[in-house]
Amino acid sequence: MNPDQAPRTGDGAGGDPVSAGSDFDPTGNPHPDEVHAMYARLRRSCPVAHSDAYGGHWTLSRYTDIRAAAEDSATFLSSVRAVVPSDPRGLRRPPLNFDAPAHTPYRRALDRTLQRRRVEGLEPALAAHARRELEPMLRAGGGDVAQEYGARFPAWVTVEWLNLSPDVAPVLARTASRWVNAWRDQDPAEVNRNSERMYDLARELVADREREPRPVERDPASSLLAERPDGRPLEREQIVGALRQSLVVGMVAPPIVLGSICTHLSEDRALQQRLRDHPELLPEALEEFLRLYTPYRGFARTVSHPVTRHGRTIPVGEPVTLPYASANRDGTVFDEPDTFRLGRPNLREHLAFGRGRHRCAGMPLARLGLRVALRTLLDDTADFGLAGEIEGARMPEVGAVSAPLTLRPRP
Ligand code: HEM
Repeated sequence: MNPDQAPRTGDGAGGDPVSAGSDFDPTGNPHPDEVHAMYARLRRSCPVAHSDAYGGHWTLSRYTDIRAAAEDSATFLSSVRAVVPSDPRGLRRPPLNFDAPAHTPYRRALDRTLQRRRVEGLEPALAAHARRELEPMLRAGGGDVAQEYGARFPAWVTVEWLNLSPDVAPVLARTASRWVNAWRDQDPAEVNRNSERMYDLARELVADREREPRPVERDPASSLLAERPDGRPLEREQIVGALRQSLVVGMVAPPIVLGSICTHLSEDRALQQRLRDHPELLPEALEEFLRLYTPYRGFARTVSHPVTRHGRTIPVGEPVTLPYASANRDGTVFDEPDTFRLGRPNLREHLAFGRGRHRCAGMPLARLGLRVALRTLLDDTADFGLAGEIEGARMPEVGAVSAPLTLRPRP
């Protein structure tokens, strides 16, 4: 739809959700390039778009609108639906699904455990885990980097952050991946089964830290238990929910980002070798990869009052997605947005981790994990390349959920 046209629906007065028909179709799992082409079209000619998919939702596609919405958490609420498609059982866990002020103590408790000194201190342990988890693919001469190495290593990042027992890592990797797939399939029974397993882990963790609290700067469960907003502890079941969320938030994006980066580096062997020879380039390269291959398109908000943008009104009730992946390819902000380029002057403006109150709490840990994973892969191989077709992620993600590689180990 032309943005200057009169809106087709939602006069905004009553605020009732009104079916507006579909300007785009985000269902299916097309190649990431097709998803990006869809958003390019929306940015150009339909910056506030509606789809009937997933029960009806809106999407913003331009950088400025997405950033402004993420930064305005009084208008764009997270407590109704924070993701499209949402949890098929409608469960809400903090901090992602809470608005301020309820959100604040959970977020403060997690932030306390993600300070730079602590995160940096995890690097040696993570490097050892990465080397061990890459071994099977090196021995086999290849494998699916998103589903094998890329899925198993993030479980160790979570285990180290939450101070879980090492035998939890493989269970978590398996359970989280089944849970994510069931969510994408909107299969409530399977979501429930795997979610319950993770709830059990979260409950055991809370019970353990109640018995033996650890230093709050180093232990998320102890930090949540120590919070005293208004002089009272947080509700136990909500602490369990926050830890249950913490078990999976770091498991979804890294495999997709790694799959997408390896796909790119398979097609640009010169860059692959340059990064292998110059690891000091990795932090900036990773940041540019995060911009180019931002894994999320389905984080959502619900407006607290009707909001009109570009001649269309988003009514109260239907969620609106903030596709950070689209924002980061907006050519009015990033020159040649579909090209990987080192030395972008405004790279720090990218929205891969969101913005505002819900900006990724695990950002430093996510960066460290990706850097260690990629560095290990480059260090331990002489070369790698794609061995087959990649599989594209479905909503709420975008990128490579499967990326089969051939690896040549370093002699
Ligand atoms: C490449 C990896 C990652 C990416 C791209 C990513 C991205 C994001 C984004 C875009 C949000 C904002 C959601 C919104 O706007 O509604 C978010 C939230 C969050 N992320 Fe991450 N994330 C990553 C890894 C991690 C890791 C490793 C952790 C573990 C500590 C983590 C913990 C969280 C938490 C707790 C939230 C909710 C924050 C809140 O609602 O206050 N993330 N993430």
